[in-house]
Amino acid sequence: KMLADYQGVALLEKQLSQKLGISRCIVLPGNSDKQARVIDSFGRRLSQLLGSILPTGEALISVTGGRTMARVARNFSPDLSKNRKLIFLPARGGVGESVEIQANNVCAEMADRTKGQYRAMYLPEDISEESFESLQKETSIKSVLDLIYRSDVVVHSIGSASIMADRRNLSREEKMDIVEKGAVSEAFGDFFDQSGRLVYKVPRIGLHVRDLDRIKYVIAVAGGSNKANAIQSYMKNAPAHTVLITDEGASKLILRAN
Ligand code: BG6
Repeated sequence: KMLADYQGVALLEKQLSQKLGISRCIVLPGNSDKQARVIDSFGRRLSQLLGSILPTGEALISVTGGRTMARVARNFSPDLSKNRKLIFLPARGGVGESVEIQANNVCAEMADRTKGQYRAMYLPEDISEESFESLQKETSIKSVLDLIYRSDVVVHSIGSASIMADRRNLSREEKMDIVEKGAVSEAFGDFFDQSGRLVYKVPRIGLHVRDLDRIKYVIAVAGGSNKANAIQSYMKNAPAHTVLITDEGASKLILRAN
């Protein structure tokens, strides 16, 4: 029975990678919408995966915020820092979201669990175009940005567009614009429609989806049947070397969709 189950999952993972057009999927049992402990299993699996791919010596890991990542962080293992100097970085600066789920906080938690280091980037979410340009040249920010662009791994989640539009403190007009353009998913402040077209960008400092091609390992962590559409939309134009850690809840719906 064990073997049959294993083969079943391996097949599911292969079909899902093919359907999404990405290099690899890891599917864990359950549905994270209904069972939060499934997210803990994402965290343990991610920690294991990082252990097998991160270089020894200095290792730079950029992460995004969100509820998924905040819970994933609590499951990182201290084994990860064996022979490594880990440095966790927020993939994007911004303090618009509530403190517990900010990327800065996710970094701090991962560093704490693994006895590694982290660098924070505290920036307001809604800055003007001009201050945005000049902030990017500030030395304290520039030094973190330089590290971010040199990341060995980027770990991010994928959000449902409507939920993320609310959470990102956007104006009523901006939200309406996003809805009208048919946004389905969000990652790194970029909103995408069902066909994977970029329809809106929140101007923020740090990594954008277009920067991911230059990063050696890109790992997306997102699950739950409610996120099936968002995952499909985001993956339409995601870098092909993306590895997705997800659950049965999301996978089964994605495989059923056309
Ligand atoms: C945000 C990330 O903080 O969390 C986004 O920057 C992601 O890239 C989102 O889409 C997902 O949030 P959650 O709470 O659904 O895990």
